[in-house]
Amino acid sequence: MPATRTRKKLADLGAVAAGLAHEIRNPLNSLYINSQLLEEMLVELPDRDVPQKDELLALARANLKVTQRLNDSLSAFLRFARPPAMELSPVDLNRVVAETLRFLEVDFTYRGVDIAVRYHPAPLPLLADERQLKQALLNILLNAEEAMDKQEKAVRVATGVRAGLPFVRIQDNGRGIPRADRRHIFRLFFTTRKNGSGLGLPIVRQIVQQHGGTVSVRSREGRGTSVTVTLPYESQFRAMYPGRLPLALPPGGGTR
Ligand SMILES: Nc1ncnc2c1ncn2[C@@H]1O[C@H](COP(=O)(O)OP(=O)(O)OP(=O)(O)O)[C@@H](O)[C@H]1O
Ligand SMILES: [Mg+2]
Repeated sequence: MPATRTRKKLADLGAVAAGLAHEIRNPLNSLYINSQLLEEMLVELPDRDVPQKDELLALARANLKVTQRLNDSLSAFLRFARPPAMELSPVDLNRVVAETLRFLEVDFTYRGVDIAVRYHPAPLPLLADERQLKQALLNILLNAEEAMDKQEKAVRVATGVRAGLPFVRIQDNGRGIPRADRRHIFRLFFTTRKNGSGLGLPIVRQIVQQHGGTVSVRSREGRGTSVTVTLPYESQFRAMYPGRLPLALPPGGGTR
């Protein structure tokens, strides 16, 4: 099939999938609210009248968890299918990284993950949608955290400039990515995790591409993984879209 027809078919399929996801959203919300009510009502019941109260509560809570997870996956998928318009403003990559890490600090400490950061000594001015960029970094950091399989858990983060382009690198010492999986990790719904939805990295790539940047992954099985996001400076980004900024950019509007 010619490439354009394949692309058109995929786009149609994407639209159908997004429509379906949207349809599921309302009933799923009802299901969630009902599960919540059920749980509250069960908690109120006097133990002596309902001998199976604990089992019933466990079931209601399990339902609540599953619906919550489904809802999260659905939101992530819809986000991917219909990416929000970019709200661009000048930001410093160092600050964006610092604030994203601060957000995860408690979580990392709780899980015993040692985190070390090295910042580029000068500001790294970008033109970016700060919220979306943070979302991308968060997805990468969560993957790092989830990959931890050793006693000593370490995440190293560095910002810098390479070949004239700002970058941020997130390195973990987790289980690494098996060679056979490597070419699939950016595929929609590819996951090896029990509760994963396989949307994290596709969203990372989408966001980074919208910023005119690239993502690269290096991994050694059993040793760890390093994910590098390279982004253009503000001036370089403006040069990519002369006269058209700031405005909403199409997905994949970047270099690769
Ligand atoms: N740092 C990492 N270390 C090891 N494997 C990784 C790492 N990052 C990604 N992977 C692999 O790539 C797969 C896809 O990652 P992705 O973030 O897209 O989905 P996920 O984490 O499984 O689910 P979610 O949608 O919750 O993010 C993971 O299931 C895992 O197999
Ligand atoms: Mg993930």
